Amino acid sequence: MNIKKQFLLITTILILVIGCKESTVETPTEPVTLRNVYKDAFYIGAALNRFQIDETDSIMAGIVGREFSSITAENEMKSMQIHPTKDTFNYEYPDKFVALGEKHNMFIHGHTLVWHSQLSPWIRNIEDSTEMAEALKSHITAVVSRYKGKIHSWDVVNEALNEDGTLRKSVFLEVMGEDYLPLAFKWTSEIDPDADLYYNDYNMANPEKRAGAIRLVKNIMDKGVKVDGIGMQGHWHLNTPSLEEIEKSIVDYASLGVKVAITELDISVLPNPRDLVGADIGQNFDNSELLNPYTKGLPDSIQVKLANRYTDIFKIFLKHKDKISRVTFWGVNDGQSWLNGFPVRGRTNHPLLFDRELKPKSAYDSIIALKQRDDKQSN
Ligand code: XIL
Repeated sequence: MNIKKQFLLITTILILVIGCKESTVETPTEPVTLRNVYKDAFYIGAALNRFQIDETDSIMAGIVGREFSSITAENEMKSMQIHPTKDTFNYEYPDKFVALGEKHNMFIHGHTLVWHSQLSPWIRNIEDSTEMAEALKSHITAVVSRYKGKIHSWDVVNEALNEDGTLRKSVFLEVMGEDYLPLAFKWTSEIDPDADLYYNDYNMANPEKRAGAIRLVKNIMDKGVKVDGIGMQGHWHLNTPSLEEIEKSIVDYASLGVKVAITELDISVLPNPRDLVGADIGQNFDNSELLNPYTKGLPDSIQVKLANRYTDIFKIFLKHKDKISRVTFWGVNDGQSWLNGFPVRGRTNHPLLFDRELKPKSAYDSIIALKQRDDKQSN
């Protein structure tokens, strides 16, 4: 090799070495995902069904792992599923769900310990107050101790209120009286003192129900029993509830000294039969074209409305990020949303951030862009 060639070779090697060095010192930029972009604000969660817990679809599994920092089991931890008879427990899916959350280093939320719906028949049929207390205590003890230290927060009681803020006449209230509320929280905190314990309900932005929820939580606290948080389910619509009521609720709940979580967020774009609001899963209506207008996809104008609605709501969440612990979507993509079956069976709803092809919708882009703008302004 002549001198000229040697010189060329050495220079090339030097350039390569310096180039490599420089690229390794560069700070790696995090991928732009919901989870990463919102990490300094609150957890961003998703409810998972069996199919998603199994990671059957690799694209879906990729989305879950990349985009979300928290998960909730959509159905697998409800008493009917996890504790179907007095002496039988189905832990297969709850265990897989927890393992998935641990694999992705997620905040794992437990849903739900005491709920009148999807309730095990063996509990529903109890008529004696001592027997009911024993049943609830044994259910809570078994499930909470199995996941102690692994499940980070629990919906201890779900949907105990009527729309006017009075207590729902559930089997628990009928058989045990109001005591079931503080007792459920007390038993849960005794088993896992480190888990955050929530009261969770729908229509929590409605003034009468809000007042009822505040009374309910105060009554529990007055008995010296801890409540760590209030969950607003967030099954909302394009125009209701108003942004003012959403904001007022977050502020009023937080003033009790508890965390606020948005636990089941989805925004229905479909007409609401008989002005049905909320999520009482006991209701169902017949399907019709009028009620199911977007079977061939969401028109651009509605896609924009949905993106704007999500943006407006997230502006409030960001403004109150000091009060909000977690915002969880009730599902990952439109195709598997429960709102295709509720309150009218067989509809095509479009309430989430990912569409039927698992592509992010403009609502997704808007929420990301909102946080990035917010970060720039505060820098
Ligand atoms: C829903 C699930 O999404 C459906 O798959 C199931 O058939 C019925 O329950 N409030 C709650 C959730 O607290 O558990 C409900 O989930 C939706 C309303």
